[in-house]
Amino acid sequence: MKILITAGPTREALDPVRYLGNRSSGKMGYALAKAAVQKGWECYLISGPVDLPWPEAMAGEKVESAQEMFDAVERQRENQDVIVMCAAVADYKPREILQNKKKKSSNNWQVELVRTKDILKHVGHNKKKSQLVVGFCLETENLLESAKKKLDSKKADVILANPASTLDADAVTLSWLDVSGRKQQWQEGQKEDVAVKVIEALQNYCESRQHV
Ligand code: CTP
Repeated sequence: MKILITAGPTREALDPVRYLGNRSSGKMGYALAKAAVQKGWECYLISGPVDLPWPEAMAGEKVESAQEMFDAVERQRENQDVIVMCAAVADYKPREILQNKKKKSSNNWQVELVRTKDILKHVGHNKKKSQLVVGFCLETENLLESAKKKLDSKKADVILANPASTLDADAVTLSWLDVSGRKQQWQEGQKEDVAVKVIEALQNYCESRQHV
């Protein structure tokens, strides 16, 4: 089995020294990558800037911006069996990146933000029939309704939903929702342990689809 995983945040530059980012630590994505390798899968990890050590012997690359992550996913997605978009990709980026560091003045600084590409949506809408596309959903409210909407709008096969409180935490409660309508939940556990269960569930899901 070949799996592509995105992890961590993206950084959208404002000037050579400033950026817009988010609090994603990359822990869940890295835990999934390690669990997949332990299971004997071939994993390619595409990671935004995180403080975690690169997992030993892991294939992959580090990127900064949403556009770089999009390009890296585009180069790798063709031959994957499973694609898991765990990264907290910025939804907006500054319209322009200043060439030089912005000097402060007495005026306010107004920045116009424009949409980034939705990588999961692109991958979901362009997936091969055999490919399993998995997205994440992180919300402060209406978690499961939002997960259902993302399943449809992004043409994902599975959405893994977690409350926003798990951002940057070591533990997670994760809900699984898939296109066949199946739901399951893993109660609060260490991300490493939950990741092993998710990979197990993905393996089972792939096998059950082959028998349909
Ligand atoms: N995602 C992505 N590319 C983006 C934004 C998000 O691939 N530009 C992926 C994430 O990796 C995750 C899922 O989409 O798998 C999250 O869905 P999204 O609708 O972007 O969630 P939010 O960022 O919470 O956005 P919203 O405010 O619409 O709920």
